[in-house]
Amino acid sequence: MDAPLSAVNQRLYTPANELAVHAMRLQAQSLRDLIGNGPTAKQRAKALAFTFGSLHVDFSKQRLTQKTIALLIEWARSCGIEARRQAFFAGEMVNPSEQRAALHMAARWPETATPPAGMEYAAAFCQQQRARMAKMVKRVHAGEWFGATGQTITNIVHIGVGGSDLGPKLISESLADLPSSTKVGVHYVSTMDGSQILPLMERLNPATTLIVLASKSFTTADTHFNARTVLAWLSSALEVDEATICRYQLIGVSSKPEKMTTFGIPESHQLVFKEWIGGRFSLWSPIGISVAMQLGTECFDALLDGAHAMDRHFIDTPLATNLPALLALVGAWNCQFLNIPTHVVLPYDGRLKSLSAYLQQLEMESNGKKIGLDGRSVNHATCPIMWGDVGPNAQHAFYQLLHQGGHTVSADFVAVATREVNAPDKVQESLASQEQLTLANCLAQAQLFALGDEAIPVALKGQIAQGYRGNHPNSFLLLKQLDPWSIGALLALYEHKVFVQSVLWNLNPFDQPGVELGKQLATSLYQTLADKSVEQENVEDPSTTQLLAKLNDWKKA
Ligand code: F6P
Repeated sequence: MDAPLSAVNQRLYTPANELAVHAMRLQAQSLRDLIGNGPTAKQRAKALAFTFGSLHVDFSKQRLTQKTIALLIEWARSCGIEARRQAFFAGEMVNPSEQRAALHMAARWPETATPPAGMEYAAAFCQQQRARMAKMVKRVHAGEWFGATGQTITNIVHIGVGGSDLGPKLISESLADLPSSTKVGVHYVSTMDGSQILPLMERLNPATTLIVLASKSFTTADTHFNARTVLAWLSSALEVDEATICRYQLIGVSSKPEKMTTFGIPESHQLVFKEWIGGRFSLWSPIGISVAMQLGTECFDALLDGAHAMDRHFIDTPLATNLPALLALVGAWNCQFLNIPTHVVLPYDGRLKSLSAYLQQLEMESNGKKIGLDGRSVNHATCPIMWGDVGPNAQHAFYQLLHQGGHTVSADFVAVATREVNAPDKVQESLASQEQLTLANCLAQAQLFALGDEAIPVALKGQIAQGYRGNHPNSFLLLKQLDPWSIGALLALYEHKVFVQSVLWNLNPFDQPGVELGKQLATSLYQTLADKSVEQENVEDPSTTQLLAKLNDWKKA
């Protein structure tokens, strides 16, 4: 006998199913209708905006209602978010494929606060390494770090890639105009092709340049090949052997001290972080040393404080007002339930030009996966394709497609409300109007993304060609100012967003098995290129064989 309908419904009921039905209903409306006008609309907008310290996040241009938020929270609870969050902070093995915890939060846990049970050893270890790092930074700033020929250090070249580069580089760029900046110049080198190191070798003084070799595994080819080139440069320019350069002009940062020792870096110039800090979460560890070299230890500490404040907020705050949880839920809502496949990050501040690259690694390397923790394939979209650029420039590049093309995207607009500039009055005045112009553009584009033609003011209707599609749901992230605390909190917000989404999708966000095969294939093709004997090699496809032949041909010529 068929079960009564209500019993069937009961069985089919899951928060995710309920969300799917709810999504269909909301998709039938335009964002304009949803955002509305009048007192109820104001109430909706107010309920969807949240302030935490100097960070303000406004979700009111998203395709959602308060009911959506309630359903999303119910879904997160049904996925066990609260217990998983606790396990994460308690140092449990949340990265099962690599059999380890994920405790980057320990790297920013202040000495003055008691860490959660399970994190004590990790926090103490990180604090000890942070103190070692501070001493090295102090030595350089005091002019007491001497290179192989006895001169004091004036420039740092930070060599690393992925997580060993993106975070520190983003912070160095974002905070470069702080008055606390020291006189030490910091330069980042990541690409394996030598294109970044080459101009630096031409302009830096080899006698006063200190190299930071940043690599968690200490085996990444990109970093090692750059290191070899830089060692060759320093040794030939200073006429000392490479072992001496390693002793005087190299700092190593890695989770593999034994490999640093084999490389020739003395123990006193090594900084260590443990396996339980993932590469893309390692900015807070001694991987951030170049930030401290550039901006000072106090500034680096303030960055950690901002991130730590976000950790506390994430653990202590109920889901309904928990910023990382909300950012994650809104993101999952957009890609999984509203089927929006890409997410664009648009910082309206040139200092944040590397934010989207940083978030690309953070989000896509973490949750760009389809196999769940249970070994089964997830049958819906997970992490969206992340992309982006500095908003004001992007307006003159890809916004045309976003406004009148066929694709729907979701977006994060990131803006900075105030900026202090030390300049003559007239310059300050002019810069203030630039700041205002930028903010006005950011607000206008966020509005246009959501409302399309409906954003055109009545007075301009008829004068402006219509056809703006709108209906791109977007969040607005506003920083009161771009200071170390605020950007620390912002990045930790995104880190925890990634964690929450991994729980929703039952993924392991802390491994990256998908990047391994490319490295192995490149190693064998590297040999093939070096041998120049394509014909004898067992290259798997005629397309690659043909390209190899062409390359070898041109190299011989
Ligand atoms: O791209 C793969 C990856 O392992 C990233 O996860 C990591 O941030 C990057 O390479 C660099 O690795 P390492 O710090 O070990 O050199």
